[in-house]
Amino acid sequence: MSTDGFETLAIHAGQEPDPATGAVVPPIYQVSTYKQDGVGGLRGGTLAGGPGRWIEGYEYSRTANPTRGALEECLAALESGTRAFAFASGMAAEDCLLRTVCRPGDRVLIPGDAYGGTYRLFDKILRPWGVSYQPVAMSDLDAVREAMAAKPARLIWVETPTNPLLSVADISALAQIAHARDALLVVDNTFASPYLQQPLVLGADVVVHSTTKYIGGHSDVVGGALVVADGSLGEQIFFNLNATGTAGGPFDAWLTLRGVKTLAVRMERHGQNAQRVADMLAAHPKVAQVFYPGLESHPGHEVAAKQMRGFGGIVSFRSRGGEAEAVAICGRTRLFTLGESLGGVESLIEHPGRMTHASVAGSALEVPADLVRLSVGIETCDDLLEDLRSALGD
Ligand SMILES: Cc1ncc(COP(=O)(O)O)c(C=O)c1O
Repeated sequence: MSTDGFETLAIHAGQEPDPATGAVVPPIYQVSTYKQDGVGGLRGGTLAGGPGRWIEGYEYSRTANPTRGALEECLAALESGTRAFAFASGMAAEDCLLRTVCRPGDRVLIPGDAYGGTYRLFDKILRPWGVSYQPVAMSDLDAVREAMAAKPARLIWVETPTNPLLSVADISALAQIAHARDALLVVDNTFASPYLQQPLVLGADVVVHSTTKYIGGHSDVVGGALVVADGSLGEQIFFNLNATGTAGGPFDAWLTLRGVKTLAVRMERHGQNAQRVADMLAAHPKVAQVFYPGLESHPGHEVAAKQMRGFGGIVSFRSRGGEAEAVAICGRTRLFTLGESLGGVESLIEHPGRMTHASVAGSALEVPADLVRLSVGIETCDDLLEDLRSALGD
C-alpha cells in the first residue's frame, strides 16, 4: 500500500506518463480491440503501470481498457482498496455487485433512508428476482442487531451520510455486526467521497460510488465504481462486469480522472460553504429543520466527526411553508440551479419528493414533502447565502 498522501494519489495513482509518448495524463484509448502478437499474445499490461495492475494485457475494451484501468487504479488507491471497477453509472455498479454476491432466496438489510434509485433497484429488480429486503434505520445499531438476529442476511447496505436526509451510520460498528453473522458490509460513499471518509479502512467490504457526483465533480459525466478490500471478491465482480458488459467508456473514464485530481480541494471548499449555508438556514425563521452532519444538533454529528474528515457539501431543509412553499423555493433561486444530481462545482437545488426520490413515494423510505435538498457548490459563499435568503423571501 502506498504511503503517499491523498492529494498525491489523486494526481498520480494509475497515471504515470504514457510510456509510448510521454503524455503526462493517460490518453483516451478510444479503441475496442487490440492487436495480439500471435494468438493469446496480449500486449500492454504495463501501460498504466505500477503495482495493483491486474490485467496481463489488452484484448477487448469490454474486458479492459487502459484509460478505464488508470481510473480504476486511482480509485483503488484513494479508497485504500485492492481493486476498483469503473462502471457506466452508479446504478450499473450497484446492480453488478448485488448480482455478484446475492442469489435468489437471500435477504439484505437496506437503509430506512437512501437514494431513490437504490431503493427502486432493490424493490423493482432484485425483489422480483427473489432477493428480499428489509429497511432499517442504520443509525440505530440495536435495530440493525435485532434485524440480523431475526433472520440471516447476506449483506447490510449502508449510505452514510444518506441521500437526502443526511443520516449518519457508524461504519466500524456496522462492520462488526455484519461480520459477526458472516454478512458483507457495503457502503455507498457517494456523499462523502474517499477524501472525507474511507469505509474499507473502517472495516467495510465494498465501497460503492456514483462517480457522477463528487469524484467526477463537474456535472459532465455519468459513472459508477466499486472498490473492494478482498481480491477474491474482486475476481467475482470482474467476472460479472465482463460477462454483463456494464463498464464505463474510455472518454467517461478520462473525464472522471480529470475531475478526481482536484477532489481534495473541492471537498474542502464544498464543506466550508455547506457549513455556512447550514448555519444560516438553522437560524432562519422560515426553515423548520436543517439536516447537515456538521451541525452539533445533528443526531449523527459525533459519529460523523469520528469517521469523516469533514461533513460534505449536501444540506437539506424543511420549509415551514409546507410542500407548496418548498417547491416554490426551488423555483426562486438564481445561482442554485434547479436540477437532479449533486457533487458538481456548481450549486444545485431540488425537491426530493417530486424529483430524485419520487420512486420511494408510499414506501418506508418516503421523504417529507416539505424537504428541499441543496448541493452546495464552490462559488463565492456570500453569493450563495444571498441567493438562498432571497429565495426564502428575505
Ligand atoms: C447516493 C447515491 N448512490 C447512487 C446513485 C446512482 O448513481 P448514478 O446516477 O450515477 O447511476 C446516486 C445518484 O444520485 C446517489 O445519489
